[in-house]
Formats: sequence, structure tokens, C-alpha cells
Amino acid sequence: MAGVDDEAGLEAVRVRFLGRSGEITTLRRGIGALPPAERPDAGKVINAAVESLEAMLTEKSRELGRRALDAALATSIDVTFPGAPSRAGSLHPLRRTLEDACGYFERRGFAVVLGNEIETEYYNFDALNIPPDHPAREGLDSFYLRSGALLRTHTSPMQVRTMQANPPPIAIVTPGKAYRRDAVDARHSYMFHQLEGLLVAPGIHLGHLKGMLTGLFRELFGPAQTVRFRPSFFPFTEPSAEIDTTCPGCAGSGSLADGNACRTCGGSGWIEMGGAGMVHPGVLRESGYDPDAVSGWAFGMGIERLAMVRHGIDDIRVLFENDPRVLAQLA
Ligand code: PHE
Repeated sequence: MAGVDDEAGLEAVRVRFLGRSGEITTLRRGIGALPPAERPDAGKVINAAVESLEAMLTEKSRELGRRALDAALATSIDVTFPGAPSRAGSLHPLRRTLEDACGYFERRGFAVVLGNEIETEYYNFDALNIPPDHPAREGLDSFYLRSGALLRTHTSPMQVRTMQANPPPIAIVTPGKAYRRDAVDARHSYMFHQLEGLLVAPGIHLGHLKGMLTGLFRELFGPAQTVRFRPSFFPFTEPSAEIDTTCPGCAGSGSLADGNACRTCGGSGWIEMGGAGMVHPGVLRESGYDPDAVSGWAFGMGIERLAMVRHGIDDIRVLFENDPRVLAQLA
């Protein structure tokens, strides 16, 4: 039995002793030829031999089974090993902020439209009333392709594209990537996301925009948010404004509980979220709209900025490096 190391060897042993013409079987057949007085003892001895042989065969068979399992486990997975708990993923904070902001506008009847990241100079600049000598047009600020097209420097091209394709009224938001030749630092990246908004209909004024943005910031940052417009300039809006909202880091006070200036807003109590204004009559006209019949507001905001303020992140690179530990923390 010691030399047996597979099922075939085991079967050979069984046949040799217990088979039809096996050694023990033959002995048992021979009992009848013994004198009657010796038969019972011979029977007992033979039965005991059969029992112990069967026990040995069973034990050997188990041992072979164990060995086969060990060999299989050594070369494959250990099904008895407790599994690693699976971790649930989450949306990236940028994606979540983008979806929440779009959702806010969608619930108010706005359509979400996406645009191309590669744009023509016409839609990126000319149609938006940006003059040929504007510095943004230079290769130093924009990524041009060999064809003369460029990576859009803002999401505003979708204003004219949407108006040219649809009669008024228009209510859209356009989220997406924009590109500028900025060196990467804590506040800049050559690629970032914007949320563009456009509402055009008879009688639209800046008050409508202020109400809309106040609601957005309250939904994203908290119920105490307010909005401030600072006079500014964009070629495609008139009048134009920078959009500020109450700094959520210090509730607009500019200082922290320890008396130090708030780091989120630099002590001003306000955070700049983007640009806005009333759509320039020239842009309406270029889009085939009558500036005497309809008016509209437009805004453009940085989605990274929204997400950073929302999560208290002070370096934009955190949003692009995708360290899973950071993402788990922001989930
Ligand atoms: N396109 C401007 C920018 O990228 C933002 C903006 C959008 C301003 C719409 C006014 C109206 O800075």
C-alpha cells in the first residue's frame, strides 16, 4: 500500500486481493474444502483480513483525494481564503458638481447641450464679437491646430451655435472642457471645465440671472449664499459683470474664528465664480435674433472653482491627480 500513489494503483491492489480471482477471494472459496471443524475459524480470519484491507483501501483513497486537492489549490485560487471586501466607488467631485449644477438648471426648464472641444475661430471669437487683434486670439493664449481650428478657450461658442440652430426662446446650459495655454499651478490648468448658461426671450434682464445664480449657489454651498455682480468687460456681453458669491469658508465675514483672515477668500468675504452679462446685441444679430425683440443673459463659470469651494480644496491639481485616497475622502 505504501507504494501506491494513484487511484489506478489502489484499484490494482483491490483486484489483486478482493477481485473475482483475487488472493483472498480464492482463499474464501477454499473454505468449503476444509474439514468442517476448521471452517468457522478460517472464515473469521479471512473476514478480518477483508475488513482490515478495506479499511486500508478507504484510508489510502482519502489520502489520495487530499493530496489531489492540495495540488489543485497550490496552482489555483484558495476557495477557503476569506475574500477582500469590495469597496464602492463614487463619482469624481468634478463630475458630481457638474451634474448637480446642470440638474439645478434642468429642473428649471433649461436644456443641457454639449459642444465640440475643437472650434473654429469664427465661433470661438468672431461670432462673439471678439476683435481680430484681441490678445486671447494669439497662439500664446490659445491652442491652435494646424488646420487653423483651435481648442475652444471657453464654452461661449455654444451660445451662437445654439441660437443659430434654434429660434428664441432659448434656455440652455453647456458644461464642458475648455483649454488655455496656462502654466499649471494651484489655481490654473491648461484644461479646465466651464458651465455656460444662456437664457434669451422677450424681456429678460440681469435680475433674472441674479435670482437664478443665487438659487444655484444656495443649492451647492448652503442656504446663506448671496450673489454680487462686479462691473467687468467681455466683448460678447453688455453690460458685463464678474459673479461673486458669499465665501462659504467664513460665511462672508472675511475672518475666521481665530481672528485670522479667511484663506478661502483672502479676507474679502467673496469668491469669484465666473463672468456674466447681457448678451451683446451684435451677438444676437450674428445669431439671427432681433435685439429689439429679445434680450438675454449669459454666464460662464469654472466648474473646478465650484467643486473647490464646495469641498474646501485649495489646489486645483487635487482634482486632476486622482489620488484614490483623496477621491474616497471627497465621496
Ligand atoms: N466666456 C467667458 C470666460 O471664459 C465667461 C463668460 C461667459 C462671460 C458668458 C460672460 C458671459 O471667461
